[in-house]
Amino acid sequence: MHAPIDSNALATLFSEARTHSAWLDKALPDALLEQLYDHVRLGPTAVNSCPARFVFVRSAEGKQKLAPCLSKGNLDKTLAAPVTVIVAYDEDFPETLPELFRHADARSWYAGQPALITENALRNSSLQAGYLILAARALGLDCGPMSGFDDKALNEAFFAGTTWKSNLLINLGYGDASKLRDRLPRLPFDRACVLA
Ligand SMILES: Cc1cc2nc3c(=O)[nH]c(=O)nc-3n(C[C@H](O)[C@H](O)[C@H](O)COP(=O)(O)O)c2cc1C
Repeated sequence: MHAPIDSNALATLFSEARTHSAWLDKALPDALLEQLYDHVRLGPTAVNSCPARFVFVRSAEGKQKLAPCLSKGNLDKTLAAPVTVIVAYDEDFPETLPELFRHADARSWYAGQPALITENALRNSSLQAGYLILAARALGLDCGPMSGFDDKALNEAFFAGTTWKSNLLINLGYGDASKLRDRLPRLPFDRACVLA
């Protein structure tokens, strides 16, 4: 049990945090990406399966490989971002379960069940992408998540011959708040939630 975080921390994570498309010219050291992952990996996943895999694209060469896979509207901001994270999932995650979930033979629950594997991998790697966004904000970074890309082309460019598949992209850096548009509305409690 922990005390609730204070209003400054809540502002950093939620009320003042925004999706960014413009970036300050400030690099992200690889050590910070490792620190980020150290937080992300502790977020909960089903049977502790941790199916997400993360490619931190930050070299000019990596960005050029990514560029042809991006939708037109996502191209410039992605090339300008210090880092673009490919959040992928490993279809072979059941093979890690003897190590990651020692309480039971969880690997056998997925044997011969490709649909269940994909469902678990997509659900939990999407959660892990959310953990990454919040962990990045907690470390003072900003994010720009994106689904506007050609996943077949990206899988071919980055993951050919592997069991990894792309889920979404997240630009990462220090956002230029002066370029933000007004925050869009959100649904109120009585339209999005039900007390049962
Ligand atoms: C999974 C996901 C996919 C998104 N895809 C795109 C995208 O392809 N291009 C884009 O410009 N914004 C994309 N967005 C950004 C959303 O439009 C943005 O997060 C939302 O409008 C909320 O903005 P705010 O955080 O500034 O309030 C995506 C966001 C998420 C979470």
